[in-house]
Amino acid sequence: MSASRENPPLEKSFIPRYRQIALQLRQGMMSGELAVGARLPSSRTLAQELGVSRDTIENAYGELVAQGWLERRGQSGTFVSHTPPGVRSRATTSPLSAHQQPQPFQMGLPALDAFPRALWGRLLGRRQRSQTGFDLAIPEPGGELSLRQAIAEYLRYSRNIDCSAEHIFITAGYAQALRLLLGVLATPQQGIWLEDPGYPLVRPILAEAGLRFCPVPVDSDGMDIAFGRKHFPDARFALVTPAHQSPLGVALSADRRRQLLEWAARCGSWIIEDDYDSEFRYHARPLPPVKSLDGPQRVIYAGTFSKSLFPALRTAWLVVPPALATAFQQAISRFPCTVPTLIQQTIGDFIHGGHFFRHLKKMRQLYGLRHENVTQALAEQGFRVAPQSGGIQLVIEVDEDDVLLAQKANRAGLAVQALTTWCSREPARRGLLLCFTNVASLSEARRLAKRLRDAISL
Ligand SMILES: Cc1ncc(COP(=O)(O)O)c(C=O)c1O
Repeated sequence: MSASRENPPLEKSFIPRYRQIALQLRQGMMSGELAVGARLPSSRTLAQELGVSRDTIENAYGELVAQGWLERRGQSGTFVSHTPPGVRSRATTSPLSAHQQPQPFQMGLPALDAFPRALWGRLLGRRQRSQTGFDLAIPEPGGELSLRQAIAEYLRYSRNIDCSAEHIFITAGYAQALRLLLGVLATPQQGIWLEDPGYPLVRPILAEAGLRFCPVPVDSDGMDIAFGRKHFPDARFALVTPAHQSPLGVALSADRRRQLLEWAARCGSWIIEDDYDSEFRYHARPLPPVKSLDGPQRVIYAGTFSKSLFPALRTAWLVVPPALATAFQQAISRFPCTVPTLIQQTIGDFIHGGHFFRHLKKMRQLYGLRHENVTQALAEQGFRVAPQSGGIQLVIEVDEDDVLLAQKANRAGLAVQALTTWCSREPARRGLLLCFTNVASLSEARRLAKRLRDAISL
């Protein structure tokens, strides 16, 4: 326990030892270091670790059980109680728990209530029990083979992308995927086309690599490729979200996909296709990914499990053209995959077992419904929702200062974002961005839409 290392030696205090230990544990629970539901070490183990008698630990645990902080579950052990006194009110104000607790409309989250956690837990347990000593050794820097094979299978059936495991590199999230990619291909001062508006979290990573930003406007057909070719013909990269542009949700038209590939082939540039939430479309058939049309082999495809499973997995991947595979394999030791082997294997099992496809199908239906509910509730409150082709977020068009409106909404506990802050050029487009996936019913949608209306009318 870290608390025991940070506190003064027990012998120097006049407070009885068992009480000091109880206080340290309580502090850990209040700060969130010991999470609700966490299992405490057995009294024998903790006694050994702290160099005290087992009775001392039993007394400390006993006091905390009596106060409601801990609960004993027979032979299973002692756990942090689900309702520790006072924790809830404190926890909601700490930055850690604000980060952990999703807020209404929070961007980028899949439906956390709909993930099959029991099934996931079973697969995780089964995989852990069947691991051999070999699985505990140094992992493959480019990611577990079984997961890379599963991703290749999924991409072939679901996205019409023909690739094999040796062209796939697993990374701990999209940012890490970009770092790997730029580590192999980028040199400072090269230009990169960026969608305007576009996902702001990539900017620091691109800046780290010394790239020159080339903002390219987005209209109802996605990134304006003709603009990019005219103003930044010599850029080395184009970073695009063709399925559902982030954040506007429009699709890159078929014609522009062709133009983009033509430009990249002619100029020897690289297209980075960020396909982060392409699984979620509700009406028309989606356009094929740029990667599936990649005759000239200029596309590096980036996928993630953050939306299709859940973000805490921190697992993403790249598919690189065969001609780049060796360069990536050589670079991977500098950017090794840090996703634990057990997690990678379990995701692989989830896909191989057919659960991934079933889950995506269920989520498409659920999100279709939740999307309709939120759009309807917002319209009832007089909001204009921009048309889009799919994805998990919405844009409300506004004429007023969207930063101010977002601040008012945030003060009312609604995690909407201002579109202006996703823009590079003036005049910035105005709008409010929100995610609808965790709004469970029409009545909840109506409550939230009214709360948003009331908050911004103040
Ligand atoms: C546009 C876009 N690309 C990629 C990602 C995936 O990032 P990660 O895999 O790090 O969760 C996100 C996540 O929100 C996103 O919004």
